[in-house]
Amino acid sequence: MVNKIPSRIRWAVDFMDVQPNDHVLEIGCGNGAAADLICRRLEGKGKMFAIDRSEAGVDRTKARCAAHIEAGKLTVRQIDLATLRVPVKRLTKVFAFDVNLFWVRDAAEEIALLHERLMPGGSVNLFFDTTRPEQVSDILAKASEQLRDGGFRVYIVDSKMPPVIGIIGRR
Ligand SMILES: C[S@@+](CC[C@H](N)C(=O)[O-])C[C@H]1O[C@@H](n2cnc3c(N)ncnc32)[C@H](O)[C@@H]1O
Repeated sequence: MVNKIPSRIRWAVDFMDVQPNDHVLEIGCGNGAAADLICRRLEGKGKMFAIDRSEAGVDRTKARCAAHIEAGKLTVRQIDLATLRVPVKRLTKVFAFDVNLFWVRDAAEEIALLHERLMPGGSVNLFFDTTRPEQVSDILAKASEQLRDGGFRVYIVDSKMPPVIGIIGRR
């Protein structure tokens, strides 16, 4: 069976403009749809590291993306972002979709960790579904502020259909 990629995920991954040699970290990979799409766009030295703190998320990503793991493109780990250890300054892009920690609480430590591990010019790409419009101004204000406080240059992107906003931080 072919697993469909939801349009919100496709829009976000298209926006992020994955390059064949990117080193991508996904936070909160869930059912693995974004990891699948991103890995399809990696070639050569391109690699992806997908994490989720939930066992169910990791299991679903591993099952869906078995071919990418087998091909050596993808590593999936059950871990909380706060305790992530990856080599310093290797990442080119960080991707997260509907991962609330960036706007519901203080994420200064996690953002510092991402800043330290991203190459200069690399980006953090935080996307959120906007089907609950009453949350959008809070998401934008809080996630932008936290990225800015963490040393990123921030800009906002949005789509009406599918309903998605992105808060992009450039290192
Ligand atoms: C709402 S789900 C979204 C899943 C997927 N990104 C999507 O859009 O379909 C949020 C996911 O992020 C994971 N998550 C939340 N906080 C996390 C953290 N601090 N570290 C790692 N994973 C986290 C959760 O376990 C969950 O699988």
